[in-house]
Amino acid sequence: MKTMQDAFHHTLKDIYYAENALTKALPKMASAATGKELKSAFEHHLEETKEQIKLLKSVFKSIDAKPEGEKCDAIEGLIKEGESLMEEASGKALQAGLIGAAQAVEHYEIARYGTLRQWAKELGNDEAHDLLSQILDMEKAANAKLTGIAVSSVNA
Ligand SMILES: [Fe+2]
Ligand SMILES: [Fe+2]
Repeated sequence: MKTMQDAFHHTLKDIYYAENALTKALPKMASAATGKELKSAFEHHLEETKEQIKLLKSVFKSIDAKPEGEKCDAIEGLIKEGESLMEEASGKALQAGLIGAAQAVEHYEIARYGTLRQWAKELGNDEAHDLLSQILDMEKAANAKLTGIAVSSVNA
């Protein structure tokens, strides 16, 4: 990578890989969730994640690139942590822990999309900026919803 365009393209591939990996991780988290509210939050975010993948395809199109992922070690690590939790924890610790694990993923995504949309703006790609902002808003809302579920029921 040398240019800002290269950095943008690389980071886009990284988050595309991450979103695709999350379509496999979220169903596992949904089945580990025992509360109705938490289970449906994970199921809803799975649908949003599929929508985000479509939006990312449009971002690739806006830079005349084909949609492809590049292995993202950060998301692999976060998913692995979630998997260990599901193996090692149970009961209330598991339910609270699932929210914590999911929020670590949301914060990662928020960081990535915040960076990407600003880079899109600097590169004069308003279309990508708007698409990435839409995804960023979904991630922030997902994170806030998880906080709500933790505070109002699961933690108690
Ligand atoms: Fe996402
Ligand atoms: Fe997310």
